Amino acid sequence: VTPTCQGGGRDVQGSWSACLTFVCFFPLTFCALETGNGCGHMVVYQDSGTLASKNYPGTYPNYTVCEKKIQVPQGKRLILKIGDLDIESQKCESNYLTILSSTTLHGPYCGNMMPVPKEIILDTNEATIHFESGSHVSGRGFLLSYASSDHPDLITCLERANHYMKTEYSRYCPAGCRDVAGDISGNIVEGYRDTSLLCKSAIHAGVIADELGGQINVILQKGASRYEGILANGILSQDGSLSDKRFMFTSNGCNKSLTLESGAIPNSQITASSSWEPTNEIGELVQWSPDKAWLQVQGPSWASNQTNLRQWLEIDLGEKKRITGIRTTGSTMLKFNFYVKTFIINYKNNNSKWKTYKGILSNEEKVFQGNSNAGGIVRNNFIPPIVARYVKVIPQTWHQRIALKLELTGCRIVQGKGPNQSAGIPTNLLSVPLGILSFLFFCIFDPGCWKQIKQPFARHQSTEFTISYNNEKEMPQKLELVTSTMAGKCSLTLSCGRVCN
Ligand SMILES: *[C@@H]1O[C@H](CO)[C@@H](O)[C@H](O)[C@H]1NC(C)=O
Ligand SMILES: *[C@@H]1O[C@H](CO)[C@@H](O)[C@H](O)[C@H]1NC(C)=O
Ligand SMILES: *[C@@H]1O[C@H](CO)[C@@H](O)[C@H](O)[C@H]1NC(C)=O
Ligand SMILES: *[C@@H]1O[C@H](CO)[C@@H](O)[C@H](O)[C@H]1NC(C)=O
Ligand SMILES: *[C@@H]1O[C@H](CO)[C@@H](O)[C@H](O)[C@H]1NC(C)=O
Repeated sequence: VTPTCQGGGRDVQGSWSACLTFVCFFPLTFCALETGNGCGHMVVYQDSGTLASKNYPGTYPNYTVCEKKIQVPQGKRLILKIGDLDIESQKCESNYLTILSSTTLHGPYCGNMMPVPKEIILDTNEATIHFESGSHVSGRGFLLSYASSDHPDLITCLERANHYMKTEYSRYCPAGCRDVAGDISGNIVEGYRDTSLLCKSAIHAGVIADELGGQINVILQKGASRYEGILANGILSQDGSLSDKRFMFTSNGCNKSLTLESGAIPNSQITASSSWEPTNEIGELVQWSPDKAWLQVQGPSWASNQTNLRQWLEIDLGEKKRITGIRTTGSTMLKFNFYVKTFIINYKNNNSKWKTYKGILSNEEKVFQGNSNAGGIVRNNFIPPIVARYVKVIPQTWHQRIALKLELTGCRIVQGKGPNQSAGIPTNLLSVPLGILSFLFFCIFDPGCWKQIKQPFARHQSTEFTISYNNEKEMPQKLELVTSTMAGKCSLTLSCGRVCN
């Protein structure tokens, strides 16, 4: 299996052995970034991240090492929060965790012998996390979060609302909580059961993006008798039973329906690439036309006549608006099990060209996880919001036939006093001479690598990215260096901004 230089994507497990060979050949370049097969879920972003041992919260393997260098922007200090540490060892000889900065060694930590600090504040902006295991039978390993000193209220992905007594508080969630094991139940409108993981709920609610983390504002309220589970932002919340308390996230209010004002009169136009017009049992023509695509309209949805990747549904909002989310269903008809499983979004303004909405960190188009049945409503949020007049939904995968109802949510743009932004994209890039060096090294030995890395470069140069934060001013979206999850072992996503511009 050939390791790839394309980061961000999910890598195959099998590439590890190939990678290991490489690592051992060039320890100076690669091992400085990350070594070892004892690393589990790892999301490392410029300002925060989440790291866990392999198989967490299951038992970590025998004889493994995980070493990972983390850093926050220069001039800041690094804060670490240890969410869980369960390492089977008496004296930390062969199973332990250490945190090494240029000035201090913290640890080794293991077992129950010595108390493990919940929080470590370093006086440097970088550190190396080192985890090692020998032979052992049990132990979950570790899960920790880090952020810069700008966020002393950092929590880990494991905190639940019932850990806090206060009725109103604000905390900072690290990047990378979406794929950490643990339930949430409820949804943004009715609130979440207090047993739910806070940061994962915030991603589900669309308050923060998994790739960034960010500040969450929580309000604790009297519990509900039941909680409805829904799929949102790629996370499925569970149905939940009566609880004493529930929590809500405060919102900036930019969550109104943009497509239907009063539930009946569309305040926007909708068109489609094609429509399905079958005749039913009694010989009538049934129109699955685009005007059926409003979420609030009863009856069948819009369905395309052809089923291929060139189908689309286009909404004209009449004027430029701030679009923060989309809710979709399938056909909504029992007899027709049609729905769109994944889609991408294009958007534009009056006279501009169509642009593809991209994820925060990736220079790839963002593929949204849509419906998994014909009836349920699935929500996805745009972080950062799209500011545009026209939006086009382009189905990528579907079940049986492309069929869709939708609603866009957001708000009008009020000149000069739009709502403040809840999350910002940090604009300064990491400087990563080491990363670039090892990338170059890597590519010498894997020619396929160039092919893969060139595309993002080319795309980045040719696309001016215009998801904007301010009402009018449009900021280019920057690419960041990410060594992400397990894929990070063999892959690097390069910070392109500085290299290309
Ligand atoms: C580690 O090896 C020992 C001895 O072979 C075995 O009993 C144990 O189950 C192994 N532990 C794990 C986590 O695989
Ligand atoms: C929109 O935000 C307001 C608070 O500003 C909240 O009360 C309402 O439930 C939200 N609506 C949706 C659909 O999320
Ligand atoms: C749907 O496609 C079929 C064949 O591809 C074509 O004959 C038919 O006219 C199309 N129907 C509509 C409504 O476009
Ligand atoms: C876009 O077009 C609409 C009507 O066609 C017009 O009212 C609006 O001012 C235009 N906006 C811009 C930014 O040109
Ligand atoms: C918007 O942000 C600015 C500074 O970032 C702040 O001074 C102002 O109070 C905020 N306005 C609202 C409505 O939150």
